[in-house]
Amino acid sequence: MKVIHVVGARPNFVKIAPVITALNKFKNDLNQILVHTGQHYDQNMSGIFFKDLSINQANDYLGIGAGTHAEQTSAVMVGCEQMFKKYNPDLVVVVGDVNSTLAAAVTAAKMGIKLAHVESGLRSYDRSMPEEHNRVVTDHLSDILFTPSEDASINLDREGIAKHRVHFVGNVMIDSLMNELPNRPELNEIEIPGLKSLKNESYALLTLHRPSNVDNPGVIYEILRALKPLSDEMPVIFPIHPRTRNRLGNIDTKYLTICEPLGYREFLSLESQARLVLTDSGGIQEETTFLGVPCITIRENTERPITLTHGTNILANPKNLPGIIRDILSNSHYDKPTKIKYWDGKAAKRIADIIVSREWMN
Ligand code: UD1
Ligand code: UDP
Repeated sequence: MKVIHVVGARPNFVKIAPVITALNKFKNDLNQILVHTGQHYDQNMSGIFFKDLSINQANDYLGIGAGTHAEQTSAVMVGCEQMFKKYNPDLVVVVGDVNSTLAAAVTAAKMGIKLAHVESGLRSYDRSMPEEHNRVVTDHLSDILFTPSEDASINLDREGIAKHRVHFVGNVMIDSLMNELPNRPELNEIEIPGLKSLKNESYALLTLHRPSNVDNPGVIYEILRALKPLSDEMPVIFPIHPRTRNRLGNIDTKYLTICEPLGYREFLSLESQARLVLTDSGGIQEETTFLGVPCITIRENTERPITLTHGTNILANPKNLPGIIRDILSNSHYDKPTKIKYWDGKAAKRIADIIVSREWMN
C-alpha cells in the first residue's frame, strides 16, 4: 500500500509526526511518502519542527510560500496533482485545517484517490474564520475521518456523514506532546533576548496569529494594551508569528518580551511551566488542557469546546481580559481539568491500525 501525507504549516508537522511513526511499524506492508507544500517555510516555522519531532525530510517540497487564499490553495492543488500522478498512491492523508489541507483534499477527491482526514469534525460554526471552510470541505470529501474527541464525531453525524467513515481515535497533538515532553530543555537553557534565566520566576506566554485578532491594527492594539497590567507583574513572553510581526507597525510593545517563534521542544518547556498562557491558537488550547496550565483564548468561539468544558481554557476579549487574568492569578476562577478520552498518546496507533486494516478500500 502507498500512502502520501501532505503537510504545509507549523501545526501540521506536530500532527503528522506520530502518524508517520505509527505507520512505520508496518513498513513491510506500507510505503509512506511525505509532501511538504512550503506554506510555512522559515526555519523556525518549519525546519526546526522536522528536527524536534524527528520527522525525516520530505520526499518532495512544493515551495508554494505566501499568497492570498486563492493563490495558495490553487498552487498547492497544482503541485499535489503532479505528486499524486508521480506516486499513484492508494491513500492521501491530510491533517488539520490549513489551506494546504483543503487543497490536497480537493485534489485527491478530483483524482478519485481515497482520502483520510486527521483531526476531523472540529467546528467553530464561525464562517468568517478561514479554517472553518477548510474543515467542512475536507471532511465532506474524506473517505476516512479521524476525530480527536466525541463532540467532533457528533458534529459529523449532524452533517449527515456516514457513521462507518468516522473513527474516534483521539488527539494526535497529545501524542506528540507526550512523546516530546521528556525531551524539552530546562528553562535556563532557553535563550530569550532581554530576559535573564526564567528558573524560579513566574511568567506568562502569549501567542497570536488569527487574522481576526492581528490583521486589524485597532484590534491587535486593544488586545496588547489589555495585557499591560499583567506585564507589570511578570514577563509576558511573546514568540511572535510572522503574520503578526508583519502587522505590528508602530504599536508600542516595549512591555512585552518579544522573540522569534520557538522550536517545538523549547515551546513545550515554556508552555508547560508558564503561570498562564494567552493565545488564539487551536493546538495550544489542547496542549494547555492536557498540561493543566491555565489558558485564556482570545477569541469569540472555539472549535475545541472540550477544552472549555473539561480543560483549562477560558474565552476572552480585550474588555474582559484584565478581569479574567486577575481571577486566574488569585486562583479564584479555576477548575482542574478532567481526563479526556483518548488524549492518551495512542491516537496515531489507532489511526495506523485502521489504515492498515484496508477496510476503507471497499
Ligand atoms: C496558517 C493557517 C492557520 C494556522 C496557522 C498556523 C490558513 C488559511 N491558515 O495561518 O489556520 O493556524 O497557519 O501557524 O492556512 N510567513 C512567513 N514565514 C513563514 C510562514 C508565513 O513570513 O514561514 C508570513 C507570510 O507573510 C504570510 C503570513 O505569514 O503571508 C501568513 O502565512 P499563511 O500561511 O498564509 O497563514 P498563517 O497566518 O500562518
Ligand atoms: N508552537 C511552537 N512554537 C511557537 C508557537 C507554537 O512550537 O512559537 C507549537 C505549539 O506547541 C503547537 C503548535 O505550534 O503544537 C500550534 O501551532 P499554531 O498555533 O501555529 O497553529 P494552530 O494550532 O492555531 O492551527
